[in-house]
Amino acid sequence: MPGNVATLKEKNNKFICNNHVGAFKYSIGMNIKQIAVIGAGTMGNGIAHVCIQHGFSVNLIDLSIEALEKAQQQIEKNMDRQVKKGILTSEQTSAALQSLTLTTHLEEGVSNCQLVIEAATENPTIKKSLFISLDKVTPADCILASNTSSISITSLAAVTQNPSRVIGMHFMNPVPVMKLVEVINAYQTAAAVSSTIVELSRQLNKIPCVVNDYPGFIANRILMPMINEAIYSLYEGVAGVESIDTIMKLGMAHPMGPLQLADFIGLDVCKSILEVMYNGLGNPKYAPCPLLVNMVTAGHLGIKSGEGFYNYTAGTDQKVVSSRFL
Ligand SMILES: NC(=O)c1ccc[n+]([C@@H]2O[C@H](COP(=O)([O-])OP(=O)(O)OC[C@H]3O[C@@H](n4cnc5c(N)ncnc54)[C@H](O)[C@@H]3O)[C@@H](O)[C@H]2O)c1
Repeated sequence: MPGNVATLKEKNNKFICNNHVGAFKYSIGMNIKQIAVIGAGTMGNGIAHVCIQHGFSVNLIDLSIEALEKAQQQIEKNMDRQVKKGILTSEQTSAALQSLTLTTHLEEGVSNCQLVIEAATENPTIKKSLFISLDKVTPADCILASNTSSISITSLAAVTQNPSRVIGMHFMNPVPVMKLVEVINAYQTAAAVSSTIVELSRQLNKIPCVVNDYPGFIANRILMPMINEAIYSLYEGVAGVESIDTIMKLGMAHPMGPLQLADFIGLDVCKSILEVMYNGLGNPKYAPCPLLVNMVTAGHLGIKSGEGFYNYTAGTDQKVVSSRFL
């Protein structure tokens, strides 16, 4: 019924507006030029890559010099690949690489920035302590974004003096390839901060989608129950590993099956995100399957440990079902 749809839409709009509290002084589309990326791991190097590729200067910050050097090599390698594919020219690559600075000093790395994107290890204690420091050492009008996959943005905002400048900016892996940025408004995020991040994501040639901060946001809230259900189907003997993945690939046009995807993400990461949703939403449907729990306890974590639903001894391109499931 159209009346009901309109009412629901109005309610939703009202809800979203109510979620934007705080009078942040940003104007929509404010000029971000200098970005700090914290954490030079898988995601941090990808985020730094797309930022320098699209004309921003980046200070990449990590505790470990080795991680920073590895990240720079990874960025150079990925940009070389883009040159071979005709996405970038060698001149654009050298210019981009010149706008990348590596540092292990947090304060030095963020002092001249209009935006910080935190992509450090997924651990609430590490992230909260980083946000407490960022609150003190960044310019007052600097936006503080987190790339967390599962930690509440509202809880990160709550440890700062000005929570209205905190937001979630959830990039997907591999960052230079994947188009989506899930923009997560904390309960306290100012509307102008959200609009600025939407615009910035477009400048990075990404497609932003704005969601509100509840456990799992949208991407993982929908993806993780699907992966968990695939694991339950295997656990209950409904079908084998290859059949489950082939059905979802060919039947739903997914680029890879849910069990293979779980191996790529890391089974420990899948379990931990399901637990965040189980605890945060209080619904038993999010409880991790006992088979997933056993695999994580046994150290079968997917690609990173060499075995999950598949065995990767022969490399990640060779899909060999783990002998546990034959
Ligand atoms: N890997 C993915 O597929 C993926 C996808 C989306 C989002 N994320 C999120 O991105 C974030 C980073 O994940 P990742 O996979 O890149 O992790 P990673 O383990 O590859 O890298 C984390 C880096 O953070 C550094 N670090 C830890 N504490 C730090 C501190 N206090 N200051 C500076 N650097 C610090 C570590 O030295 C490490 O180099 C996490 O929040 C994760 O949930 C990951």
